[in-house]
Amino acid sequence: MDTNLPHGGFLVDRFLTGADRDRALQESRSYPVLHIDAWTLSDIQCIGMGAFSPLTGFLGEEDYEAVLQTMRLADGTVWPIPVTLAVDERYRELSVGDKVLLRGQDGIDYAILTVASIYWPDKRKEALHVYRTTDSAHPGVKRLYERPSLCLGGPIDVLNPLASCQFREHYYTPAETRAVFKQKGWKTVVGFQTRNPVHRAHEYIQKAALEMVDGLFLNPLVGETKADDIPAAVRMESYFVLLKHYYPPERVFLAAFPAAMRYAGPREAVFHAMVRKNYGCTHFIVGRDHAGVGSYYGTYDAQHIFSEFTPEELGITLLFFEHSFYCRKCQSMATAKTCPHDEADHLTLSGTKVRQLLQSGQTPPPEFTRPEVARVLIKGLQEKLTVES
Ligand code: ADX
Repeated sequence: MDTNLPHGGFLVDRFLTGADRDRALQESRSYPVLHIDAWTLSDIQCIGMGAFSPLTGFLGEEDYEAVLQTMRLADGTVWPIPVTLAVDERYRELSVGDKVLLRGQDGIDYAILTVASIYWPDKRKEALHVYRTTDSAHPGVKRLYERPSLCLGGPIDVLNPLASCQFREHYYTPAETRAVFKQKGWKTVVGFQTRNPVHRAHEYIQKAALEMVDGLFLNPLVGETKADDIPAAVRMESYFVLLKHYYPPERVFLAAFPAAMRYAGPREAVFHAMVRKNYGCTHFIVGRDHAGVGSYYGTYDAQHIFSEFTPEELGITLLFFEHSFYCRKCQSMATAKTCPHDEADHLTLSGTKVRQLLQSGQTPPPEFTRPEVARVLIKGLQEKLTVES
Protein backbone atom coordinates (compact mmCIF):
# COMPACT_ATOMS: atom_id res chain seq x y z
CA MET A 1 0.00 0.00 0.00
CA ASP A 2 1.39 3.40 -0.96
CA THR A 3 0.47 5.41 2.11
CA ASN A 4 1.67 8.63 0.63
CA LEU A 5 -1.00 9.13 -2.04
CA PRO A 6 -3.44 11.99 -1.52
CA HIS A 7 -6.90 11.00 -0.36
CA GLY A 8 -8.86 9.76 -3.37
CA GLY A 9 -5.65 9.30 -5.38
CA PHE A 10 -4.82 12.80 -6.63
CA LEU A 11 -4.45 16.35 -5.34
CA VAL A 12 -7.25 18.69 -6.33
CA ASP A 13 -6.21 22.10 -7.64
CA ARG A 14 -9.12 24.46 -8.28
CA PHE A 15 -7.11 27.69 -8.56
CA LEU A 16 -7.59 29.40 -11.91
CA THR A 17 -4.52 31.04 -13.41
CA GLY A 18 -3.50 33.03 -16.50
CA ALA A 19 -5.93 33.31 -19.40
CA ASP A 20 -8.46 30.95 -17.76
CA ARG A 21 -8.64 33.24 -14.75
CA ASP A 22 -8.90 36.38 -16.92
CA ARG A 23 -11.77 34.85 -18.87
CA ALA A 24 -13.55 33.68 -15.73
CA LEU A 25 -13.21 37.12 -14.13
CA GLN A 26 -14.69 38.71 -17.24
CA GLU A 27 -17.61 36.29 -17.45
CA SER A 28 -18.31 36.43 -13.73
CA ARG A 29 -19.42 40.06 -13.98
CA SER A 30 -22.88 38.90 -14.97
CA TYR A 31 -23.21 36.25 -12.23
CA PRO A 32 -25.31 36.73 -9.10
CA VAL A 33 -23.13 37.59 -6.11
CA LEU A 34 -23.23 35.59 -2.89
CA HIS A 35 -21.58 37.12 0.16
CA ILE A 36 -19.58 34.61 2.19
CA ASP A 37 -18.32 34.55 5.77
CA ALA A 38 -14.83 33.76 7.08
CA TRP A 39 -15.72 30.09 7.63
CA THR A 40 -16.77 29.58 3.98
CA LEU A 41 -13.68 31.44 2.86
CA SER A 42 -11.57 28.93 4.81
CA ASP A 43 -13.41 26.08 3.09
CA ILE A 44 -12.83 27.66 -0.32
CA GLN A 45 -9.13 28.01 0.40
CA CYS A 46 -8.84 24.40 1.58
CA ILE A 47 -10.83 22.98 -1.35
CA GLY A 48 -8.98 25.15 -3.88
CA MET A 49 -5.51 24.07 -2.83
CA GLY A 50 -6.40 20.40 -2.43
CA ALA A 51 -6.26 20.13 1.36
CA PHE A 52 -9.80 18.71 1.17
CA SER A 53 -9.02 16.38 -1.79
CA PRO A 54 -10.96 14.69 -3.30
CA LEU A 55 -13.57 17.46 -2.82
CA THR A 56 -13.71 19.81 -5.80
CA GLY A 57 -16.40 22.00 -4.28
CA PHE A 58 -19.26 22.06 -1.79
CA LEU A 59 -21.15 18.82 -1.21
CA GLY A 60 -24.28 18.16 -3.25
CA GLU A 61 -27.27 16.42 -1.70
CA GLU A 62 -26.27 12.86 -2.59
CA ASP A 63 -22.78 13.19 -1.11
CA TYR A 64 -24.16 15.12 1.86
CA GLU A 65 -26.59 12.31 2.74
CA ALA A 66 -23.89 9.68 2.25
CA VAL A 67 -21.48 11.60 4.50
CA LEU A 68 -24.07 11.85 7.29
CA GLN A 69 -25.09 8.19 7.11
CA THR A 70 -21.85 6.42 6.20
CA MET A 71 -18.97 8.86 6.83
CA ARG A 72 -18.19 8.35 3.17
CA LEU A 73 -18.93 10.19 -0.07
CA ALA A 74 -21.50 8.61 -2.38
CA ASP A 75 -18.66 6.83 -4.24
CA GLY A 76 -17.51 5.22 -0.98
CA THR A 77 -14.43 7.40 -0.30
CA VAL A 78 -14.00 8.09 3.43
CA TRP A 79 -15.28 11.61 4.23
CA PRO A 80 -16.80 12.20 7.68
CA ILE A 81 -17.54 15.96 7.72
CA PRO A 82 -20.11 17.73 5.51
CA VAL A 83 -18.41 20.67 3.80
CA THR A 84 -21.46 22.60 2.67
CA LEU A 85 -22.45 26.05 1.49
CA ALA A 86 -25.52 27.36 3.32
CA VAL A 87 -27.22 30.30 1.64
CA ASP A 88 -30.16 32.60 2.07
CA GLU A 89 -33.54 31.21 0.94
CA ARG A 90 -33.80 33.67 -1.94
CA TYR A 91 -31.18 31.61 -3.79
CA ARG A 92 -33.80 28.86 -4.19
CA GLU A 93 -34.61 30.53 -7.51
CA LEU A 94 -31.24 29.37 -8.90
CA SER A 95 -31.12 26.38 -11.26
CA VAL A 96 -28.63 23.58 -11.68
CA GLY A 97 -25.92 24.79 -14.07
CA ASP A 98 -26.11 28.43 -12.92
CA LYS A 99 -22.91 30.11 -11.81
CA VAL A 100 -22.59 32.22 -8.68
CA LEU A 101 -19.80 34.55 -7.63
CA LEU A 102 -18.63 34.02 -4.04
CA ARG A 103 -17.56 37.38 -2.62
CA GLY A 104 -15.75 37.90 0.71
CA GLN A 105 -16.60 40.50 3.34
CA ASP A 106 -13.53 42.38 2.09
CA GLY A 107 -15.19 42.83 -1.34
CA ILE A 108 -12.85 40.37 -3.05
CA ASP A 109 -14.33 37.84 -5.45
CA TYR A 110 -12.87 34.56 -4.26
CA ALA A 111 -14.50 31.86 -6.32
CA ILE A 112 -17.15 30.83 -8.82
CA LEU A 113 -19.57 28.09 -7.86
CA THR A 114 -21.24 26.06 -10.60
CA VAL A 115 -24.51 24.96 -9.04
CA ALA A 116 -24.97 21.18 -9.24
CA SER A 117 -27.40 20.65 -6.37
CA ILE A 118 -29.92 22.73 -4.39
CA TYR A 119 -31.24 21.14 -1.20
CA TRP A 120 -32.65 21.65 2.27
CA PRO A 121 -30.56 19.79 4.83
CA ASP A 122 -32.15 18.38 7.96
CA LYS A 123 -30.15 20.26 10.59
CA ARG A 124 -31.22 18.12 13.50
CA LYS A 125 -30.18 14.99 11.69
CA GLU A 126 -26.86 16.59 10.73
CA ALA A 127 -26.25 17.62 14.34
CA LEU A 128 -26.94 14.10 15.62
CA HIS A 129 -24.76 12.39 13.04
CA VAL A 130 -21.85 14.81 12.94
CA TYR A 131 -21.76 16.18 16.50
CA ARG A 132 -23.56 13.34 18.30
CA THR A 133 -25.76 15.91 20.03
CA THR A 134 -28.52 18.37 19.20
CA ASP A 135 -27.54 20.63 22.10
CA SER A 136 -27.24 24.18 20.80
CA ALA A 137 -24.65 24.89 23.51
CA HIS A 138 -22.21 22.83 21.43
CA PRO A 139 -20.32 25.39 19.30
CA GLY A 140 -20.55 23.32 16.11
CA VAL A 141 -24.27 22.65 16.57
CA LYS A 142 -24.89 26.30 17.46
CA ARG A 143 -23.28 27.40 14.24
CA LEU A 144 -25.21 24.80 12.25
CA TYR A 145 -28.53 25.99 13.71
CA GLU A 146 -27.67 29.64 13.05
CA ARG A 147 -26.81 29.07 9.40
CA PRO A 148 -29.36 29.64 6.63
CA SER A 149 -31.36 26.53 5.79
CA LEU A 150 -30.72 26.13 2.07
CA CYS A 151 -27.57 24.55 0.64
CA LEU A 152 -25.93 24.89 -2.74
CA GLY A 153 -23.56 22.16 -3.89
CA GLY A 154 -21.19 22.05 -6.82
CA PRO A 155 -17.61 22.50 -7.95
CA ILE A 156 -15.79 25.78 -7.36
CA ASP A 157 -13.13 27.59 -9.36
CA VAL A 158 -10.97 29.81 -7.20
CA LEU A 159 -10.11 33.27 -8.49
CA ASN A 160 -8.06 34.64 -5.61
CA PRO A 161 -6.17 33.23 -2.62
CA LEU A 162 -6.91 34.57 0.86
CA ALA A 163 -5.99 38.24 0.69
CA SER A 164 -5.67 39.72 4.12
CA CYS A 165 -4.31 36.80 6.04
CA GLN A 166 -1.88 37.38 8.87
CA PHE A 167 -0.26 33.99 8.39
CA ARG A 168 0.12 34.05 4.66
CA GLU A 169 3.83 33.30 4.76
CA HIS A 170 3.02 30.14 6.74
CA TYR A 171 0.43 28.87 4.26
CA TYR A 172 1.62 26.01 2.13
CA THR A 173 -0.46 24.07 -0.33
CA PRO A 174 -0.38 20.27 -0.02
CA ALA A 175 1.68 20.19 -3.23
CA GLU A 176 4.20 22.51 -1.55
CA THR A 177 4.41 20.59 1.75
CA ARG A 178 4.89 17.36 -0.18
CA ALA A 179 7.77 19.02 -2.04
CA VAL A 180 9.25 20.28 1.26
CA PHE A 181 9.11 16.80 2.85
CA LYS A 182 10.75 15.31 -0.23
CA GLN A 183 13.47 17.93 -0.27
CA LYS A 184 14.18 17.23 3.42
CA GLY A 185 14.45 13.54 2.60
CA TRP A 186 11.63 12.62 5.01
CA LYS A 187 10.06 9.30 4.07
CA THR A 188 7.79 9.22 7.10
CA VAL A 189 6.10 12.34 8.46
CA VAL A 190 3.75 12.62 11.42
CA GLY A 191 1.05 15.29 11.28
CA PHE A 192 -0.05 17.15 14.40
CA GLN A 193 -3.32 19.06 14.54
CA THR A 194 -3.77 21.66 17.24
CA ARG A 195 -5.97 24.61 18.14
CA ASN A 196 -4.04 25.28 21.33
CA PRO A 197 -0.61 26.40 22.39
CA VAL A 198 1.80 23.47 22.55
CA HIS A 199 1.90 22.54 26.21
CA ARG A 200 4.19 19.87 27.67
CA ALA A 201 1.66 17.09 27.03
CA HIS A 202 1.49 18.02 23.33
CA GLU A 203 5.28 18.22 23.20
CA TYR A 204 5.58 14.82 24.85
CA ILE A 205 3.37 13.02 22.32
CA GLN A 206 4.91 14.88 19.38
CA LYS A 207 8.40 13.89 20.46
CA ALA A 208 7.38 10.32 21.23
CA ALA A 209 6.07 10.14 17.66
CA LEU A 210 9.19 11.83 16.33
CA GLU A 211 11.25 8.99 17.81
CA MET A 212 9.55 6.73 15.26
CA VAL A 213 9.38 8.85 12.10
CA ASP A 214 11.61 11.19 10.09
CA GLY A 215 9.76 14.47 10.51
CA LEU A 216 7.05 16.28 12.45
CA PHE A 217 4.54 18.41 10.55
CA LEU A 218 3.19 20.89 13.10
CA ASN A 219 0.00 22.09 11.46
CA PRO A 220 -1.99 24.37 13.80
CA LEU A 221 -5.49 25.26 12.73
CA VAL A 222 -5.76 29.03 12.26
CA GLY A 223 -9.28 29.38 10.84
CA GLU A 224 -12.28 30.30 12.98
CA THR A 225 -12.28 28.91 16.53
CA LYS A 226 -14.59 29.62 19.46
CA ALA A 227 -14.11 32.95 21.20
CA ASP A 228 -12.47 31.59 24.33
CA ASP A 229 -9.77 29.63 22.46
CA ILE A 230 -6.40 31.37 22.37
CA PRO A 231 -6.23 33.53 19.21
CA ALA A 232 -4.23 32.03 16.36
CA ALA A 233 -1.85 34.99 16.15
CA VAL A 234 -0.80 34.49 19.78
CA ARG A 235 -0.49 30.74 19.29
CA MET A 236 1.69 31.16 16.22
CA GLU A 237 4.10 33.27 18.29
CA SER A 238 4.14 30.58 20.96
CA TYR A 239 4.98 27.88 18.37
CA PHE A 240 7.92 29.92 17.09
CA VAL A 241 9.54 30.26 20.53
CA LEU A 242 8.90 26.65 21.43
CA LEU A 243 10.43 25.34 18.21
CA LYS A 244 13.38 27.70 18.56
CA HIS A 245 14.27 26.48 22.05
CA TYR A 246 13.18 22.86 22.21
CA TYR A 247 12.97 21.18 18.78
CA PRO A 248 15.66 20.20 16.28
CA PRO A 249 14.91 22.50 13.32
CA GLU A 250 15.78 19.89 10.72
CA ARG A 251 13.14 17.51 12.07
CA VAL A 252 10.12 19.85 12.24
CA PHE A 253 8.11 21.81 9.70
CA LEU A 254 5.47 24.34 10.76
CA ALA A 255 2.63 25.43 8.49
CA ALA A 256 -0.72 27.01 9.26
CA PHE A 257 -3.90 25.06 8.48
CA PRO A 258 -6.48 27.62 7.33
CA ALA A 259 -9.59 25.56 8.14
CA ALA A 260 -12.28 26.45 10.67
CA MET A 261 -12.68 24.33 13.81
CA ARG A 262 -15.86 22.26 13.91
CA TYR A 263 -15.46 20.70 17.40
CA ALA A 264 -16.94 17.50 15.98
CA GLY A 265 -14.65 15.27 18.07
CA PRO A 266 -14.42 11.76 16.56
CA ARG A 267 -15.60 12.64 13.07
CA GLU A 268 -13.31 15.64 12.95
CA ALA A 269 -10.37 13.46 13.96
CA VAL A 270 -10.92 11.33 10.84
CA PHE A 271 -11.32 14.50 8.77
CA HIS A 272 -8.09 15.93 10.22
CA ALA A 273 -6.25 12.72 9.40
CA MET A 274 -7.46 12.72 5.78
CA VAL A 275 -6.42 16.35 5.35
CA ARG A 276 -2.93 15.70 6.75
CA LYS A 277 -2.62 12.74 4.41
CA ASN A 278 -3.22 15.24 1.60
CA TYR A 279 -0.43 17.44 2.96
CA GLY A 280 1.86 14.41 2.62
CA CYS A 281 1.87 12.92 6.11
CA THR A 282 2.28 9.16 6.51
CA HIS A 283 1.29 9.23 10.20
CA PHE A 284 -1.17 11.26 12.27
CA ILE A 285 -1.42 11.80 16.03
CA VAL A 286 -4.71 11.41 17.86
CA GLY A 287 -4.47 11.93 21.61
CA ARG A 288 -7.17 12.36 24.18
CA ASP A 289 -10.48 14.01 23.25
CA HIS A 290 -9.21 15.13 19.84
CA ALA A 291 -11.25 18.08 18.50
CA GLY A 292 -13.56 17.71 21.46
CA VAL A 293 -15.33 20.37 23.48
CA GLY A 294 -17.01 20.24 26.89
CA SER A 295 -17.96 16.69 27.76
CA TYR A 296 -19.76 15.73 24.56
CA TYR A 297 -17.30 12.94 23.68
CA GLY A 298 -15.63 10.16 25.58
CA THR A 299 -11.88 10.63 26.14
CA TYR A 300 -10.94 8.12 23.45
CA ASP A 301 -13.98 8.23 21.13
CA ALA A 302 -11.85 10.03 18.54
CA GLN A 303 -9.52 7.01 18.52
CA HIS A 304 -12.22 4.32 18.53
CA ILE A 305 -13.94 5.77 15.46
CA PHE A 306 -11.00 4.73 13.26
CA SER A 307 -11.95 1.08 13.73
CA GLU A 308 -14.93 1.78 11.47
CA PHE A 309 -12.57 2.03 8.49
CA THR A 310 -10.03 -0.31 6.94
CA PRO A 311 -6.35 0.72 6.94
CA GLU A 312 -6.46 0.69 3.12
CA GLU A 313 -9.29 3.21 2.88
CA LEU A 314 -7.66 5.49 5.47
CA GLY A 315 -4.21 5.34 3.85
CA ILE A 316 -2.47 6.94 6.84
CA THR A 317 -1.09 5.35 10.00
CA LEU A 318 -2.70 6.57 13.22
CA LEU A 319 -0.61 7.09 16.33
CA PHE A 320 -2.88 7.01 19.35
CA PHE A 321 -1.76 8.48 22.65
CA GLU A 322 -3.31 8.24 26.08
CA HIS A 323 -3.92 11.23 28.27
CA SER A 324 -0.43 12.58 29.12
CA PHE A 325 0.59 14.47 32.24
CA TYR A 326 3.62 15.34 34.34
CA CYS A 327 4.14 12.92 37.22
CA ARG A 328 5.93 14.37 40.24
CA LYS A 329 7.14 10.94 41.38
CA CYS A 330 8.39 9.85 37.93
CA GLN A 331 9.69 13.40 37.47
CA SER A 332 8.77 13.17 33.82
CA MET A 333 5.87 13.24 31.43
CA ALA A 334 3.94 10.02 31.41
CA THR A 335 0.63 8.33 30.75
CA ALA A 336 -1.28 5.63 32.63
CA LYS A 337 0.57 3.19 30.39
CA THR A 338 3.96 4.18 31.79
CA CYS A 339 3.33 5.59 35.27
CA PRO A 340 2.37 3.51 38.33
CA HIS A 341 1.67 6.46 40.67
CA ASP A 342 -1.54 7.91 42.05
CA GLU A 343 -3.49 10.67 40.39
CA ALA A 344 -2.49 12.91 43.29
CA ASP A 345 1.08 12.80 41.95
CA HIS A 346 -0.02 13.90 38.52
CA LEU A 347 -0.06 17.52 37.45
CA THR A 348 -3.13 18.18 35.33
CA LEU A 349 -4.72 21.56 34.70
CA SER A 350 -7.94 22.23 32.82
CA GLY A 351 -7.88 24.52 29.80
CA THR A 352 -10.04 27.00 31.72
CA LYS A 353 -7.65 27.05 34.67
CA VAL A 354 -4.65 27.61 32.39
CA ARG A 355 -6.40 30.48 30.61
CA GLN A 356 -7.30 32.06 33.97
CA LEU A 357 -3.67 31.85 35.10
CA LEU A 358 -2.35 33.33 31.85
CA GLN A 359 -4.96 36.10 31.75
CA SER A 360 -4.03 37.17 35.27
CA GLY A 361 -0.36 37.26 34.25
CA GLN A 362 0.61 34.11 36.16
CA THR A 363 2.89 31.50 34.66
CA PRO A 364 1.59 27.93 34.76
CA PRO A 365 4.06 25.44 36.28
CA PRO A 366 7.00 24.74 33.93
CA GLU A 367 6.02 21.06 34.03
CA PHE A 368 2.82 22.13 32.29
CA THR A 369 3.97 24.91 29.95
CA ARG A 370 7.50 25.92 28.96
CA PRO A 371 8.28 29.35 30.51
CA GLU A 372 9.19 30.83 27.09
CA VAL A 373 5.77 29.79 25.80
CA ALA A 374 3.98 31.06 28.90
CA ARG A 375 5.57 34.49 28.50
CA VAL A 376 4.32 34.78 24.90
CA LEU A 377 0.83 33.68 25.92
CA ILE A 378 0.61 36.09 28.87
CA LYS A 379 1.69 39.01 26.69
CA GLY A 380 -0.65 38.01 23.85
CA LEU A 381 -3.68 37.52 26.08
CA GLN A 382 -3.12 40.76 27.97
CA GLU A 383 -2.89 42.65 24.66
CA LYS A 384 -6.14 40.97 23.60
CA LEU A 385 -7.84 42.00 26.85
CA THR A 386 -6.63 45.59 26.39
CA VAL A 387 -8.03 45.70 22.85
CA GLU A 388 -11.39 44.29 24.00
CA SER A 389 -11.83 46.59 26.99
S1 ADX B 1 -7.69 19.81 19.12
O1 ADX B 1 -9.07 20.29 19.21
O2 ADX B 1 -6.92 20.43 18.07
O3 ADX B 1 -7.65 18.32 19.10
P1 ADX B 1 -5.59 20.30 21.08
O4 ADX B 1 -4.87 21.35 20.34
O5 ADX B 1 -5.64 20.48 22.56
O6 ADX B 1 -7.10 20.25 20.55
O7 ADX B 1 -5.02 18.87 20.81
C1 ADX B 1 -4.11 18.57 19.81
C2 ADX B 1 -3.81 17.08 19.83
O8 ADX B 1 -3.17 16.74 21.08
C3 ADX B 1 -5.02 16.17 19.74
O9 ADX B 1 -4.68 14.98 19.05
C4 ADX B 1 -5.33 15.85 21.20
O10 ADX B 1 -6.01 14.62 21.32
C5 ADX B 1 -3.93 15.77 21.79
N1 ADX B 1 -3.84 16.10 23.23
C6 ADX B 1 -4.10 17.30 23.80
N2 ADX B 1 -3.84 17.26 25.14
C7 ADX B 1 -3.43 15.99 25.41
C8 ADX B 1 -3.01 15.29 26.61
N3 ADX B 1 -2.94 15.89 27.81
N4 ADX B 1 -2.67 14.00 26.50
C9 ADX B 1 -2.70 13.35 25.30
N5 ADX B 1 -3.09 13.95 24.15
C10 ADX B 1 -3.44 15.25 24.19
